[in-house]
Amino acid sequence: MEAVVHSTVVQILVTGGAGFIGSAYVRAVLKDEFAGAVGASVTVLDLLSYSGNLANLPVTDSRLNFVRGDIGDAALLRDLLPGHDAIVHFAAESHVDRSISGAIPFVTTNVLGTQVLLDAAREAGVGRFVHVSTDEVYGSIDEGSWTETWPLAPNSPYAASKAASDLLALAAHRTHGMDVVVTRCSNNYGPHQFPEKVIPLFVTNLLDGKQVPLYGDGGNIRDWLHVSDHCRGIQLALEKGRAGEVYNIGGGTELTNRELTGRLLEACGAGWDMVRPVEDRKGHDRRYSLDITKIKNELGYEPQVTLEQGLADTVTWYRENRAWWEPLKARTGR
Ligand SMILES: NC(=O)c1ccc[n+]([C@@H]2O[C@H](COP(=O)([O-])OP(=O)(O)OC[C@H]3O[C@@H](n4cnc5c(N)ncnc54)[C@H](O)[C@@H]3O)[C@@H](O)[C@H]2O)c1
Repeated sequence: MEAVVHSTVVQILVTGGAGFIGSAYVRAVLKDEFAGAVGASVTVLDLLSYSGNLANLPVTDSRLNFVRGDIGDAALLRDLLPGHDAIVHFAAESHVDRSISGAIPFVTTNVLGTQVLLDAAREAGVGRFVHVSTDEVYGSIDEGSWTETWPLAPNSPYAASKAASDLLALAAHRTHGMDVVVTRCSNNYGPHQFPEKVIPLFVTNLLDGKQVPLYGDGGNIRDWLHVSDHCRGIQLALEKGRAGEVYNIGGGTELTNRELTGRLLEACGAGWDMVRPVEDRKGHDRRYSLDITKIKNELGYEPQVTLEQGLADTVTWYRENRAWWEPLKARTGR
């Protein structure tokens, strides 16, 4: 199948655009960072759940239209979707620990909500639909790296709900011929990440002189990807990805949680006495590792932000933006 170049996308609907990654994508589009979307207008559809935050968006930008609403609201979508050339679908319940305490919102938004959105996109004749998925759908891998054809074997309720939505998106292509592309990315980090995820949680704790909780033996391995590299990969998939295909997006930097903790301690000028070992997460996947050969070869993707630079910039951002994260931590009691 030939690559379809969607280089003149003028009206993009971004679900979950007030969250961490969605807002980074929206800010990049509005700053004309992507050659294929220069001058594009963006509609953000976001429920503003606990992790959605209008402070993440340039709300006064005339190219941005913000709509507060649920991706599972079919009537709202019927009115909103016509006229859009593409959808980039980020909206989700996104935190594994929350899915362990209660999985229902994950099924409601990630599975049901995605199907409602797919149906509405088809009815409205929206063009390309980029479904933002995760490497967690593959499960855990002791050696080697996952290619896109690896069987899905999710372990947490979060990962299982993402696997379901990922497969529903692919089914919409195979069954209805929808122009769907799925991206599966590794652990993101960067500015504006809700301070429940490990990097912003650890950094903000350390900036406040508080200890950080390290799960189990700290030997779990993750591949770290700067959010701006993820957004570049998503845009490549939107512009040049082949319909019905999956593209892994990774950063190529695998670290144990212990190694990551060491780097964060150093960046914040703290020692190992600031680390509090805690009982391991239930069903904690041991290792994630993505093979990103396909997106490199087909779409020319290459991560640009080194972990050293990305972590340093991220720590600086949290240091300089207390007004952004202090109210969030106070609200969640973390
Ligand atoms: N953060 C990561 O490391 C990572 C890694 C791989 C994949 N992903 C995927 O990327 C996407 C974005 O993740 P994130 O880290 O930015 O999450 P996030 O929690 O920061 O943002 C999610 C956004 O979705 C919105 N939302 C939730 N339910 C909604 C609903 N029913 N209708 C409309 N909006 C709703 C929230 O208000 C929020 O703005 C998710 O699909 C996630 O599974 C994230």
